[in-house]
Amino acid sequence: MQHPQITSQFIGDNLIYHIKHNKFEAKISRFGGHVLSFIPNGQSDVLWMSNSAVLDGSVAIRGGIPLCWPWFGAASGENAREPQHGYARILPWQFELESFDEQSVRLTATPIDTENKLAKFNLKLKLILVLDSHLNIQLQTTNISEKPVELSQAIHTYFDVNEIEPTQLFGLEGTDYLDKLQDNQQTQSGAISITEETDRVYLTNTPEVKLDSANHGVNIGGSGHDSMVVWNPWINKAKAMKDFDDLGYKHMICVEMANTQGLTVSAGDTVTLSQQISVL
Ligand code: BG6
Repeated sequence: MQHPQITSQFIGDNLIYHIKHNKFEAKISRFGGHVLSFIPNGQSDVLWMSNSAVLDGSVAIRGGIPLCWPWFGAASGENAREPQHGYARILPWQFELESFDEQSVRLTATPIDTENKLAKFNLKLKLILVLDSHLNIQLQTTNISEKPVELSQAIHTYFDVNEIEPTQLFGLEGTDYLDKLQDNQQTQSGAISITEETDRVYLTNTPEVKLDSANHGVNIGGSGHDSMVVWNPWINKAKAMKDFDDLGYKHMICVEMANTQGLTVSAGDTVTLSQQISVL
């Protein structure tokens, strides 16, 4: 097969790759190691991107697939002054085209830590992207020290749902979740519908959920996770965020594979968190 067609474009200091292959089209940002867009052949974009997202590498990108690592959510303890969701989404990454054929393209990437932000965590990170008619994204973390290291992380995918009202997420019925807005634990009853601000950490390693929306059905699979996060900022929070369109909340839902329950990576070990996105 011919090389997949890969073009690139600078936005400020950031480089955006545009890949065209007979199975899909995708856009990937060097800043954040961030998938911006994924369009399987004959489908619309599976990923939502804010119209006011900043793509020049000056701030984290709103939409697509941010990578939260080496922690998910607000930093705490000795890292308390550090950025929400960690460093992976705000560092530049070095991408390699590892292999390709008529079926798929495999890319790997590692963060470029010019300011030495990551050294103290003793963790090495590698991103693996396999793109075909599905998108498989893997975050591989290796503990390069001689002591166990605690890690939390998320593959923070923004799914485009066209209209949020009829959208339903199946597969988490009966699952306990932490409601970050009410600061309590609850149990999911029935499928998930979004009718208000929603920020929940489902305590589950279930391997698959299904998102049904007006544009398409999407299977969201994963492994290596102990939680799934479901987030929609709804009206007021969307308005309060500079890089989130005021009405954007109507068109997206985040469904994130995550480790939030205290994952310990033993000395020398590698753990892999993955998410697999398949349009039905
Ligand atoms: C979600 C968190 O995963 O990400 C929310 O559960 C958070 O609490 C949201 O508001 C967006 O985070 P950020 O840092 O990208 O605005």
